[in-house]
Amino acid sequence: MSSEENKLEHIAIIMDGNGRWAKKRGLPRTMGHRKGAETVKEICKAAEKAGIKYLTLYAFSTENWKRSEEEVSALMDLLRQYLKSDLKEIQERGVCIRFIGERQMLAPDIIENMAKLEEETAKNDKMTLCVALSYGSRQEIVHAAQRLSEMVRRGDIAVDDIDEKLFSNMLYTQGIPDPDILIRTSGEQRISNYLLWQMAYTEFFFTDALWPDFNEKMLLEIIDSYKSRERRYGKIKAE
Ligand code: IPE
Ligand code: IPE
Ligand code: MG
Repeated sequence: MSSEENKLEHIAIIMDGNGRWAKKRGLPRTMGHRKGAETVKEICKAAEKAGIKYLTLYAFSTENWKRSEEEVSALMDLLRQYLKSDLKEIQERGVCIRFIGERQMLAPDIIENMAKLEEETAKNDKMTLCVALSYGSRQEIVHAAQRLSEMVRRGDIAVDDIDEKLFSNMLYTQGIPDPDILIRTSGEQRISNYLLWQMAYTEFFFTDALWPDFNEKMLLEIIDSYKSRERRYGKIKAE
């Protein structure tokens, strides 16, 4: 047990299991995504209530583009609906929305509405909801390396100026603290190209619940269990 309570400002989630949830009920996979979108709303509110400052949700990976056209377009339509969600309510709740990932892969209307939502909520400071969309962590790291190389080539920085802080600032998550907790639903125990750099010292929690069945109570149980984990960061516990 740790002597002081662990800091908790950022929870990252891999929302997995929508397809299996639907399959279990003999429904098309897209119904699972629809139900999963309702869970997103519930969990955002629950995280806010629990005082979490940053919530990062993995909504669509770069690898998810390889799914059937039907599934991808159903997911994109859900996203379109989400982007039209009640701005007034988001403003009242003080939620700042940010997107991380390779935007250029998305349709122009989606890109435009994402930028609008980010702009309109940029000053909100109660909680930041970061949505990983068309996101792949290896691509993000490669992109950061390219940006830094270009800065060196132009003579703006020297090779020796590249350190962890500068590198972090080149990632999509620039300005967001590293996650304290990672939750993956659906029983899978892998990170599937999510926040590889950022999760160097994150505490992992895996639950068998499928994302559409995940709820506030399960989130609070994880938060509770996190509090008694000992985060050592390579050091030896002070006796
Ligand atoms: C997670 O659920 C949502 C996305 C990846 C978009 P899945 O669609 O991966 O559901 P399973 O893993 O097939 O059950
Ligand atoms: C990870 O889930 C991506 C999202 C939840 C958006 P996947 O279902 O795509 O991951 P794998 O294929 O099981 O690793
Ligand atoms: Mg999955």
